[in-house]
Amino acid sequence: MPTILIIVGITGDLSRRKLLPAIAEMAAAGVLPEKFEIIGITRKNDVVLHDLFEKAEHAEYLEMRTELFPMSLEETSDYMRLGAHLEEVDAALGGGAQRLWYLAVPPKTAWPIIEHLGSSGLSKARTTKLLLEKPFGVDSASAEELVAHVESSFSPEQVYRIDHYLAKETVQNIVVFRSDNPLFEHTWNGENIERIDIVASESIGIEDRAAFYEQTGALRDLIQSHLLQLAALTLMKLPKEDDLHAIPEARHALLKTLAVDPDGVILGQYEGYKDEVGNPDSNVETFASVRLRSSDPRWKDVPITLTTGKALAEKKTEIIVTYRHADTQKANRLTLRLQPDEGVELCFFAKRPGYDHIIERVPLSFSYAEHFEMLPDAYERVFLDALRGDHTLFASSGEVIESWRITDAAREAWRVKNVPPVTYARGSAPKGAVIACDACTVAPQEQPFTGILQ
Ligand code: BG6
Repeated sequence: MPTILIIVGITGDLSRRKLLPAIAEMAAAGVLPEKFEIIGITRKNDVVLHDLFEKAEHAEYLEMRTELFPMSLEETSDYMRLGAHLEEVDAALGGGAQRLWYLAVPPKTAWPIIEHLGSSGLSKARTTKLLLEKPFGVDSASAEELVAHVESSFSPEQVYRIDHYLAKETVQNIVVFRSDNPLFEHTWNGENIERIDIVASESIGIEDRAAFYEQTGALRDLIQSHLLQLAALTLMKLPKEDDLHAIPEARHALLKTLAVDPDGVILGQYEGYKDEVGNPDSNVETFASVRLRSSDPRWKDVPITLTTGKALAEKKTEIIVTYRHADTQKANRLTLRLQPDEGVELCFFAKRPGYDHIIERVPLSFSYAEHFEMLPDAYERVFLDALRGDHTLFASSGEVIESWRITDAAREAWRVKNVPPVTYARGSAPKGAVIACDACTVAPQEQPFTGILQ
């Protein structure tokens, strides 16, 4: 279908770093509609298209397909002007184009834009879709308000809430790993599994996002979104017969079963954060670990721990499944390595060759890099699915609201302790929280299995 992509905030970081490069890659791969136009909305009158794409790959293609449209985001008359212009672009494309609105702007700016799109009638134009970036609110109440606000102008089918983790290849593979490998799916329950740890550690700090991070923190930034989505995919009931479209509902149903264990919440802040953001009193957490329980009988007695943090030792996202064994030192462990070094690893035990009977933990590994040529960027998939009208890899309003319920409970569990986040040195982790090590390659006799968070 001919397509007009309208990017509000085309000069912003998100659009330049993620969306435009993804579009250029898709163009190079030949998966974009032949009739395709980008309208870049900007509040500035002096943006030069050529400068905007100066450092981009396939800049020529982007420049050829993009047109800038300077306008005020508050003026009703400007939306009318834009509407008329979109009709012209549509006609030039031969008519019948779908319109994809991508709001690469902060939530406060997005709110009135959504209102204007509704009141100007632009939201109701034929095949119009709205792509939204997180954060979707700051707590349950604001998320519910935002959902209602969006749905007063757009129908739920028109809305695509991006959680770029859902579109990562390795994350999509969680469902395939479970549904197409009965060996694992048959033992995917609390009878066989002792604990599940989902870790997203980052070595970077907050970079230049002080204002954003001061209002957000690790719980809202990563636990509420990416990590709860990973938990949902790992624990949910698999839909019947590869019915991929039923996955959002399955994720939602699982999220409803989760509750925070108030004794399992640790928040931390790296040393130097307060200076970085220029707020000596800041209690914003740059590290969060939250232990959850599911009321689903399948996961009875299985702690599920989500851990994330900035300025930790390394960049790593993993789902670690520890199987039951009377002696935890000897537990089998399955790791879905989502990034980097994407792959799957199962730790099992083998006899170390030699005259003595020494048992050693060894890995059975699969690496994406060794088997497959390329992993497309998540944003390519996000954009392609929105073009196709497939909601599977997007967060539904129900999921967003449920995730906020859980995040709010974690915040509250920490608040009642009335203590500031635990300070940790850059490159380490807060006391009491041990981030996963590669225990697979270490003989258990030589190093105790500290594995995951204690
Ligand atoms: C974003 C968060 O959603 O995800 C960032 O706002 C975080 O704080 C980023 O760094 C991590 O994404 P990725 O794909 O690099 O793991």
